[in-house]
Amino acid sequence: MYDTLEKVRADLDARLEAAAGDRRSPMHTPVVATADADARVMVLRGFDRLSWTLRFHADARSPKVTAVEDDPRIAVVAYDKAAGVQLRLRGRGRIERAGTAVDAAWAESTNFARRFSLGAGPGAASEGPTSGLPQQFEGAEPDDGELLPARLNVALLLVKMEEADWFSLAHTGHRRALLTRDGGQWIAP
Ligand SMILES: Cc1cc2nc3c(=O)[nH]c(=O)nc-3n(C[C@H](O)[C@H](O)[C@H](O)COP(=O)(O)O)c2cc1C
Repeated sequence: MYDTLEKVRADLDARLEAAAGDRRSPMHTPVVATADADARVMVLRGFDRLSWTLRFHADARSPKVTAVEDDPRIAVVAYDKAAGVQLRLRGRGRIERAGTAVDAAWAESTNFARRFSLGAGPGAASEGPTSGLPQQFEGAEPDDGELLPARLNVALLLVKMEEADWFSLAHTGHRRALLTRDGGQWIAP
């Protein structure tokens, strides 16, 4: 029973931590919208409840990276159908291309996943259907040396949350709350 804002905040934190840590979580792949009126599904890789920061991985050459650098406003939407909970998170994004957090993101990937940063950049035109990968890596895992150029294409999108709109569906009456890092209030669904 969500009858206090403290319970709502605990639910938000628990859901985002589970979403980042569990690939079977329904909120593991939220929709991330940028200020250029574009949106796409991304894997949520991390959530830090103290700094209220979400972490995503992206190709540094992708249009969304340019969009965030032009205008940092971000919205993230996630929905857990079984729980009937929608999260609409608003905040400011920043791109990191180097540093310990990027090194850690690279370290946590497998060579199989890293190879996606080797090919053509997201959105590059092609004369036919393409994975964008160099042909020799279509189904094969490159070695560490072959992957060195890919490292330059890895970027982090870090979203510092400013507001979380938490919505819970219920037959008896929906509940909705707007939370900031330090406060919050109930609002009509
Ligand atoms: C299930 C799923 C997960 C995805 N995860 C990511 C991701 O973590 N990072 C990413 O950059 N793109 C991810 N994508 C691809 C994006 O949705 C998008 O197509 C691509 O990044 C290009 O986006 P852009 O043109 O807006 O930059 C994912 C797509 C799907 C379907």
